Amino acid sequence: MTETVLVTGAFGLVGAQTVRRLAEAGHRVVVTDLGTPAQRKTVLPANAEARWADLTDQGEVDRLIAEVTPTVIVHLAAVILPAMYRIPAIGRRVNVEATAALVRAAQSAPRPPRFVLASSNAVYGARNPHRNPERLRADSPLAPSELYGEHKVEAENLVRASGLDWVILRLGGVISVEPGAMPINGDAMFFESALPTDGRIHTVDVRDVATAFTKAATADVVGEALLIAGDDSHLLRQKDVGLAMAAARGLPNVLPAGLPGDPDSDENWFVTDWLDTSRAQEALSFQQHSWPDMLAEMRAAAGWRRHVMFLVAPLARVFLNRRAAYRNAPGRYADPWGAIRSRLGDPRPD
Ligand SMILES: NC(=O)c1ccc[n+]([C@@H]2O[C@H](COP(=O)([O-])OP(=O)(O)OC[C@H]3O[C@@H](n4cnc5c(N)ncnc54)[C@H](O)[C@@H]3O)[C@@H](O)[C@H]2O)c1
Repeated sequence: MTETVLVTGAFGLVGAQTVRRLAEAGHRVVVTDLGTPAQRKTVLPANAEARWADLTDQGEVDRLIAEVTPTVIVHLAAVILPAMYRIPAIGRRVNVEATAALVRAAQSAPRPPRFVLASSNAVYGARNPHRNPERLRADSPLAPSELYGEHKVEAENLVRASGLDWVILRLGGVISVEPGAMPINGDAMFFESALPTDGRIHTVDVRDVATAFTKAATADVVGEALLIAGDDSHLLRQKDVGLAMAAARGLPNVLPAGLPGDPDSDENWFVTDWLDTSRAQEALSFQQHSWPDMLAEMRAAAGWRRHVMFLVAPLARVFLNRRAAYRNAPGRYADPWGAIRSRLGDPRPD
């Protein structure tokens, strides 16, 4: 069945792929985002059109919904980590209040649309793998331990209470094989170096996330929260992800050694874990890209540049080590929240 699908945050990492997949599936796709100069220059698929709106403005949201009359909203717009810790007030306006504005507009539509919300495994809070050996399930208790997870729980609650046909997709760690698709800046490198090296993270190819959102637009999954992450080859430890990706692009062993998490602490761990994706995979059949296949694609995409990168690797190693969160730090174990607080902002104010 052909739907009119409004995709928010359509020019982000997940949005760009989701728009492509929805268009391929034959839907009429209306993409919306802030309308930056780069976004306005982007070429869209033939059956997609763009409408610009700041979703924190209820008037703009009302106009958007009235003009587009979507039958499905895929709500991806957000301020994500680690950027959000620097701008928590804006983060809340986008992650929570814009969701409320969209829900209100959708409720008032003559034919209220299905509402598909992008959430995160951050809703479960910090995860010590020594104390939580089992994988997270959709019905595991929500226990956010920092601002981003709190935002996502609030957004989920708004959607659940809306009376709309809702679907919630809680994403694991989304990875793209495309060079440059994921921001690599000073904050991102510092943030990654602060996370416990042995923390569990369940990665997933962004193309598979896009497939999940595309199928969730029409599948028989209304009223469900589904866990979206890759097949079992994506059950990784934090330190392995960056190391393997950098090596695939020609930069072996460039990342700082980092520190493991404290086995006796419930708090000093990051908000990722391994997810039980069985129900999501049964309903949406989205897992198509294994972790080894992704790394092979990254190696192939880097091509001859890998040899150049190999030559700059020693410099990159020195550069990154100088900026590492635990450079010259005394402790045995990672203190991710202390490190984040010292450089980016308070991740869990009282
Ligand atoms: N990337 C991940 O690993 C990950 C993991 C878990 C959950 N998620 C969730 O998936 C969704 C998509 O994530 P992403 O990685 O594509 O994020 P992204 O940062 O790449 O894209 C977010 C988009 O939202 C837009 N946006 C921000 N403020 C806006 C506003 N006021 N009005 C309109 N548009 C606005 C941005 O311009 C951007 O294009 C988000 O809801 C995110 O919280 C992502």
